[in-house]
Order: sequence, then structure tokens, then C-alpha cells
Amino acid sequence: MMTPYVITIDGPSGSGKGTLAVQVATQLGFHVLDSGAIYRLAALKALNEKVDLQNEELVLNAIKNMDIHFEAGSDLSIPFLDGQDVSQQIRDEATASAASIVAAYPSIRKELLDVQRAFLKPPGLVADGRDMGTTVFPDAKIKIFLNASAEIRAERRYKQLIDMGISANIADLLNEIEIRDERDRTRSVSPMVPALDAVVVDCSMMSRTSVLDLVLSHIADNEQ
Ligand code: DC
Repeated sequence: MMTPYVITIDGPSGSGKGTLAVQVATQLGFHVLDSGAIYRLAALKALNEKVDLQNEELVLNAIKNMDIHFEAGSDLSIPFLDGQDVSQQIRDEATASAASIVAAYPSIRKELLDVQRAFLKPPGLVADGRDMGTTVFPDAKIKIFLNASAEIRAERRYKQLIDMGISANIADLLNEIEIRDERDRTRSVSPMVPALDAVVVDCSMMSRTSVLDLVLSHIADNEQ
């Protein structure tokens, strides 16, 4: 069997990498891995089991027997944890904050490596996250690091929340983004840094369509 084709899209939260990954995968007929969702599912499992999040060993034991799968939804796929649709729960603030604690534990990251690599199936995979190109799929054929300034990401998040009817404060959002970026960039295991062979795209001033076009033409150039 030919080795499936892997495209990694890493970058900070709010850079638009999740949407880009789905668009690229749809164009190419590839599978998608939202690795952030895997960390969120692990965090939710730990929260459901009421384990002390500060205790790495207890968190590891809890997630060792978690049962997760994704089902096709109307636009994004639906995550299931232990047989329950948890699409809403994994997006709430409590889970996001637990996920960032859980994701900093080396043993958890190791445990979740095989879970993430199991998404690799023919004809190919578009994997989005923080360490897809550096740690999970270091041999990926195409590596993109999608960045945008913290201010632009805060503005986009603000608009999203307002559109959903949720009140928000742009200065608070910017502050949260900067704290999370710093934690992701400086953690000892799999910090959020571009792989040496990644193409770094700063999309602060780009439309979604031009980012997609740029990435698709980079993929096409690599085929020649
Ligand atoms: O992208 P996201 O916000 O859904 O990610 C949730 C958390 O998981 C966030 O704290 C970053 C972390 N994460 C990670 O450490 N490594 C990944 N490959 C993906 C996400």
C-alpha cells in the first residue's frame, strides 16, 4: 500500500487553521484530524471522571480507557466521548481551559500520539494542531504554519462571539490569547513552533480564499 499523503497545518488558536484544514481536505478528498478536539476530549474525560487535573498520573489513567470517535456532520464532524455527542461540551470554556492543562503533560501527549496517528488513512490526511509537523507527522509531505497577529485573532474571535449573541470584551480576549500563546510556545514538550521545513504563512491581512489558494498552489507545486 502506498504511504498516505499527509498535510500538516499548525499554528495558534484563531489563525483559521481548522477551517483551512477542512477546506483543503474537501478539495483533495482527504481525511481530517482536528488534534485540538482530541485534547479537548481527553480533558472532558478527566473532568467527567472528576480527577484532580493537577495530578498527571490520575489524568493519564482516566484517558487510557476513553472511548472516542467522530461521525460525519453537516459541515464539521461530530465528536463522541463514551457514546455521547459532546460537540457542545468540548467547545465550552471549562473544557478549553482543562485542555490546555492536560496538553502540557508529557505522558498525555505520548498516550495521544497513536490516537492521532490512527487518523492516517488513504488517500491522505490533513492534520491541524500545534505539533503536527514537528512531532506527530514529522515526515509529512506538506507542512504549513498559519499565523496571524494576536490583535487580528482577538478581533475575529470578538466578531464570532457577537454573531453568536455572546457579549465579549476585546481587551480580555486579547489578553487570553496572549497568555495561551505564551503557554503553548514555551512548554517543554512539543511547543508550538514551525517545523524547520514548514512554510510559514502570516494571514493577518489575507482573506480566507487567498489563504486557501496559496496553500493549494503550494501543494500543486510539490506534485511537479
Ligand atoms: O486548537 P484547540 O484550541 O482546539 O486546542 C485545544 C488545546 O489543546 C489548546 O490548549 C492547545 C492544545 N493542543 C496541543 O497542545 N497540541 C495540539 N496538537 C492541538 C491542541
